[in-house]
Formats: sequence, structure tokens, C-alpha cells
Amino acid sequence: MSLFRAGIPALLLCASLAFAAPLAAQAAPAEPAAAKVHAEKQPKAPTKDELTKDQASSLALVSREHPLDPANYKPKDLRNVAGSGHELRKDAASALESLLQSARKNSKSLVVLSAYRSYERQLSLFNGYKARYGTDYAMRISAAAGTSEHQLGLAADIGLSSGQCNLKECFGDTAGGKWLASNAADFGFIIRYPSDGEKITGYKYEPWHLRYIGVDHAKAMAKSKAGTFEDYQATLLKATTAPKTAAPKLLTDAQVKERRESLLVLRFLPPYRDWSTGYDFAR
Ligand code: DAL
Ligand code: ZN
Repeated sequence: MSLFRAGIPALLLCASLAFAAPLAAQAAPAEPAAAKVHAEKQPKAPTKDELTKDQASSLALVSREHPLDPANYKPKDLRNVAGSGHELRKDAASALESLLQSARKNSKSLVVLSAYRSYERQLSLFNGYKARYGTDYAMRISAAAGTSEHQLGLAADIGLSSGQCNLKECFGDTAGGKWLASNAADFGFIIRYPSDGEKITGYKYEPWHLRYIGVDHAKAMAKSKAGTFEDYQATLLKATTAPKTAAPKLLTDAQVKERRESLLVLRFLPPYRDWSTGYDFAR
């Protein structure tokens, strides 16, 4: 075969391979640069049950609209918060101990005023407020028995050892209250009843009431647009039902090879030139 005759198919082969190259590139796509830049730790996505049914979950929503079930629910893993005389669930207790230690290191003398409360204790508190202030006001400052995060074992009321502004809104303006608001998330806590949240939470501003939701979620909530735990929880819940976006389909090595071969075949389909008869000058 002449050099020319051998050269044309060889040229076609090269052209076909060049054309097929982008297909091969799909087999091992490069990681987008953006994914590396934003590789910050995201909280593990909770399941629907962790958000709606599982009262042992640190993301359980307990409120007037979401009462505990049974009403006299008692968490299983309560333990004493060192040096406080109060109990919380295991993880929340360790987190609160770390928070109090850090506050001390920063010259803030914070104390635990209340933490886990049984159904009976919550009932007696609520009835006391009702007798003192009337039902309407009592409902704005205290949860009825069976609807309190204190009974859930994940809430603690924090005050100053001096007693200044304890369980009063002015606690939020003290140095200790400000430190708490700025640092709670680092230990997994949120200020559960913010100053502008009553329409959503159902309760007046309580700068002293901490709720444990875990470090990753407390930090994510602080960064999010959610003003209340109700908002944050609803966003997480929505994500559990949102349709999953299909991952881009990558071709397997075998598929890439198969397509490359089909392209080669295509090159020789009509309009087919009989190069050996028409253009072989060396014949
Ligand atoms: N003060 C809060 C709302 C409670 O009683 O749980
Ligand atoms: Zn409280």
C-alpha cells in the first residue's frame, strides 16, 4: 500500500480520537475549585423522625403546638451538671460544663438557675405564675406541664452569681448575658426565646434560657437566616422532603471506549470516499 493510501485512514483515526477526547475526559471529572474553597463542615442532615418523632433527638421541637408524648415524658440519660445541683441529658450536661468553664476563664461568673424539670415541677411552676399573673401572662412566660424544653432535658436557665437581673430581660444587657449570647453556639446552645420571636415561639424574650441542639446545628443556625428554632427546624424538615437532584451521569470506561469506537465507525460511513481509486496518484 502506498504511503498516501495508508496515510488517509491514519489521519481519520487521529481526527476521530481527537473528537472522542472530551468523552474520555468525562470518566474522571476534575473536582470543581469552588467545592474545595467551601469545604466547611456542614451538620449531618437529620432524618424526618429525628425532627418530628424522636424525643431523644437533640433537634426535637417541643412547644405549645408540639407537646411531649406522653405528657409526663422523662428523658433516659439525665445526669448532674457538675457543681450545679441540676440535671440535663448527658450531652447537654457535658456541653454546659464546658460553657461554664469557658465563662469562668473569661471572668464571667455564670450559674445554673434551673435545668431539667419534671412534669410535676413544671405544673407547679405554671400554676404559680397563673395564680400570680393570670393565665394570659403566665402562658407568655411559662410552658404548661408536658410542653417545656426543661422537661425534655435540653434546656437550662443561666444567671449571674451576683443575682443581678436573674430571670429578667435586663440579663441580656449584662456582660455575662452578652458573653452567653455570643458564645453559646460554640458549645451547642441557642438562645431559644429571642427578643423579637414571641409571635413564633409563643414566649417573651428570655436571654437566660439556653436550649441544646449540638455544636454543628447551633453554629449553622447562627449563620442561617433563621430567627428562631421553629424556623431553623422547619428548614431542616423541608430538606428531608425536597426531591433529590440527580447526580450528573458519568460514563464508565467501557461506555467511553464503546462511543469512541462508534465514532470511528461513523467516520467510514457514507459519504464514503474510495480513496484508493480516486486519489492514489502513486498507482
Ligand atoms: N420559660 C419557658 C418557656 C418554660 O417554662 O419552658
Ligand atoms: Zn427556661
